[in-house]
Amino acid sequence: MRKPQVVRDPSLPERVTIYEVGPRDGLQNEATVVPVETKAEFIRRLVDAGLPIVEATSFVHPKWVPQLADAAELLDLLGEPTVPMPVLVPNERGLDRAVEKGVKHIAIFGSATETFAQRNLNRSLDEQFAMFEPTVRRARDEGMDVRAYVSMCFGDPWEGDVPVDQVVAVGKRLFDLGASQLSLGDTIGVGTPGHVTALLAAFNEVGLSNGRLAMHFHDTYGQALSNTQAALRAGVTTFDASTGGLGGCPYAESATGNLATEDLVWMLDGLGIETGVDLGKLVETSVWMAEQLGRPSPSRVVAALADG
Ligand code: HMG
Ligand code: MG
Repeated sequence: MRKPQVVRDPSLPERVTIYEVGPRDGLQNEATVVPVETKAEFIRRLVDAGLPIVEATSFVHPKWVPQLADAAELLDLLGEPTVPMPVLVPNERGLDRAVEKGVKHIAIFGSATETFAQRNLNRSLDEQFAMFEPTVRRARDEGMDVRAYVSMCFGDPWEGDVPVDQVVAVGKRLFDLGASQLSLGDTIGVGTPGHVTALLAAFNEVGLSNGRLAMHFHDTYGQALSNTQAALRAGVTTFDASTGGLGGCPYAESATGNLATEDLVWMLDGLGIETGVDLGKLVETSVWMAEQLGRPSPSRVVAALADG
């Protein structure tokens, strides 16, 4: 299989952690429900390809996201995880379900905007904190690791531009509930590199260092790799991505797939940045998954490498 020629840029980090979200962010957005055995096989293949962390599913309300209603069954099928497999948990009911399954890593997901908080969580922007606060406290008491997402960091389909200060205020508040990492979501993929640089600088100013931050880019406008490069240059070393470029958010108009993990790995391989991920195995997984879903992967790298 073709590989990029490696030319290192010494100003960039030597190692990056890829936080795989395909089974959760990808499959939550499928029109049809993928069989639970297929989901388990997808996750096993991702782990086998070297991904160090794979977000498996969500303990959200099954009526809100029927695509992931089989979360408990999926975790039973997977057995004891060999790498961290976080699950999304919005509230204490979700936490109860996670505790019952012995989950060790959860992620809460807040919104930087009022409209998306209402649409995604049925809460106002302020009410979301009242929902997350006891959830995080109890999760920490249970010894769980908690990641926090903040959505609509670069623009909102209903509200338009989202001020950097507003994102920082919400993100810092979510992080301070007791999270170990804050993932900054470009939910609808509208961000551009200068915006990434400015947002990271604003978080740094309030004491959140790049080591605590992850970037979560959707690729709606084809900006995800450029934005990744801006964040790499600032020193961020955790990037969310979805194998095959699956994804979106059923409650965010115009959200399409995440940055494809293969596109990210091709670029990082070329830059000589270690990830531990085997690109060939990843492409095989996307080709297999595309067969299960009945349509080709939108990833350019998958398309280029699939036949050889
Ligand atoms: P609600 O209707 O306000 O819930 O939904 P409630 O608290 O009023 O409870 C109503 C009933 O639901 C109760 O049952 C609860 O027990 C039950 P009853 O007493 O009436 O019989 N219930 C639950 N059942 C199972 N699991 C639960 C749960 N919670 C309550 N966890 C809620 C509020 C937050 C639950 C709902 O809005 C929800 O599930 N939202 C999730 C939406 C979602 O998953 N969106 C996609 C993920 S976010 C994303 O993709 C963005 C991200 O990728 C980053 C980015 O790109 O920006 C992360
Ligand atoms: Mg997302």
